[in-house]
Amino acid sequence: MSHPDNDQPPPKGHADKHDYWLGLAQYLEWIKPPQETDQSRFGTEATISWYNDGILNMAANCLDRHAAQHGDKTALIGVGNDEGQIRNFSYQDLLAEVICAANVLKKMGIRKGDRVAIFLPTIPEAAIFMLACARIGAVHVVLFGGLSSGALEHRLSDANPSLLITLPKAQRGPKTLDFLSIAQEALGRLQGKRPIAILLIHSDGKTDCTATNITFYETLRQSVPTSCPCAAVSATDPLFILYTSGTTGTPKGIVHSTGGYAVWAHHSFARTFVPEADDIFWSTADVGWITGHSYTVYAPLLHGLTTVLFEGMPTYPTYRRWWDIIASLGVTIFYTAPTALRLLSRSHHGHPSKQDTKSLRLLGSVGEPLDAASWNWFHHYVGHSACPVLDTWWQTETGGIMLSPPAENSMENDPHMGLQPPTELEFALLEENGSEIKGTGIGALCLKASWPGQAIGIWGHEDLFRQLYFRTYPGYYLTGDEAERTPKGYYRLLGRIDDVVNISGHRVSSAEIEECLLANDDIRECAAIGVPHELKGQCIALFVVPDREDLTLESVITRIIREIGSYARPDFVEFCHNLPKTSSGKIARSILKQQILHQNNMTK
Ligand code: PRX
Repeated sequence: MSHPDNDQPPPKGHADKHDYWLGLAQYLEWIKPPQETDQSRFGTEATISWYNDGILNMAANCLDRHAAQHGDKTALIGVGNDEGQIRNFSYQDLLAEVICAANVLKKMGIRKGDRVAIFLPTIPEAAIFMLACARIGAVHVVLFGGLSSGALEHRLSDANPSLLITLPKAQRGPKTLDFLSIAQEALGRLQGKRPIAILLIHSDGKTDCTATNITFYETLRQSVPTSCPCAAVSATDPLFILYTSGTTGTPKGIVHSTGGYAVWAHHSFARTFVPEADDIFWSTADVGWITGHSYTVYAPLLHGLTTVLFEGMPTYPTYRRWWDIIASLGVTIFYTAPTALRLLSRSHHGHPSKQDTKSLRLLGSVGEPLDAASWNWFHHYVGHSACPVLDTWWQTETGGIMLSPPAENSMENDPHMGLQPPTELEFALLEENGSEIKGTGIGALCLKASWPGQAIGIWGHEDLFRQLYFRTYPGYYLTGDEAERTPKGYYRLLGRIDDVVNISGHRVSSAEIEECLLANDDIRECAAIGVPHELKGQCIALFVVPDREDLTLESVITRIIREIGSYARPDFVEFCHNLPKTSSGKIARSILKQQILHQNNMTK
């Protein structure tokens, strides 16, 4: 399979860049190919716009063209929570499933531009409904399966979908997750502000649909046509909304366009992984996060490869689960997150043998800093010292990978080397006063120009989008990360400069936790601080000043779990009489951080 960068020289001037971006678009099938490329503007009134005269359909690019060329090839392998649960879909099968789902959506009244919430675990149906939305031009809003009803309510009220797709229950490891109950509780909390219908898949037949607005997918799918034309979608129309935490209290709905995102998902995958036609690609990310969108579902299918969706956990039923899956499916490229590597590397039971992982040729990591010990273990044990390790940096907002070592010479890479910026991206490091750091140094990681995968907005909050990303340093996109530039011009990521805490790769903002606690009048003030954690990377230390004597630790923790999700559960909670303040009256977070580090003998 050809690699776009091998076909074209790297872009230099403006005209060159235009040709380069147009060249990347040619790897997709367009209903109307674009003549325009980057029409974005940075600055206080920033707007992001790519390929704005192009028309395409994402599902046609992921399925129809491959089904026509190699319909029998396996497109997707769904691996269930329990051993032995494997479902294979050829490109032809997946296309038929997506057509059926798209027709059911249409039958339920979903039209182009409508939002459809998908609250499912990482199972084939999640990808099927995402692609079904894309086929008819509806906007999918995938909601992570670990969210609580409070978190779901906020997202539903913000995105205002007409339909929510879920299932009764699912197993994650040994735990049963009550998807339908959580969804119903969230809808109940919305108090009928807007009726949202539920489409239920995998019904166990026990659910009573008479009293509620539940429709059974299995019933509807019996009576839909076997064809469904692909909607003609403008490149700038939204493909999806995905919620993520930022500096403001509540999570924001990041909006991705259809054309620019598709080009970037395709190109970033090609540049980073240099795929070959018979690759079996496994990204362990949940479909509810951006890696699940870009690299579990879209990019491998855009390339006509085989992708693996795994519903379960690396440690269930044993610590060998991942290695068994790799061995039995013959996975060639494995993309995962540091948290899981830290967990598996620390248990003898988690070490794969050379035999287990011999099919692998490339390893990737994303979501958090990949510490040297995990890098070495990944390379040595999982990659049997023969597979390059690609640490990749990117964000929900960037749509796809932005920094990684080049795959071709990454055997020379090491965990301390840093990540190489590709020539088509204009990274900058800024001092606090906004001046650019030339050469080596540490600063706020920014970009000076747009790229096709850049998010086009925050759903319903145009001004917030500009304020959060473009107004701190006019002329730049602010990533929110701090980085160090090495003498070779590579970047080492040093963590967030805002109040976003990265817990096992899940973004949670301090403000989000604090706001959820202050919503009740039994807490006078509180501060959630991110501190290092051996396995999770970071965790939350919470300081609470109660306003009522009967406030309990349990009620504080329960509230966070109910409003956000158990991944945001604090590891340290301290009740105090007051919080230290700066001279301007703000909570002195650095003092609290020092205090907790000192108490627990932590180093950073
Ligand atoms: O702080 C960076 C960290 O994760 C943030 C983005 O989180 P999210 O939008 O949830 O997307 C995660 C998956 C793309 C970044 O701002 N991050 C991501 N990758 C790395 C990383 N930190 C260090 N090294 C990485 N490779």
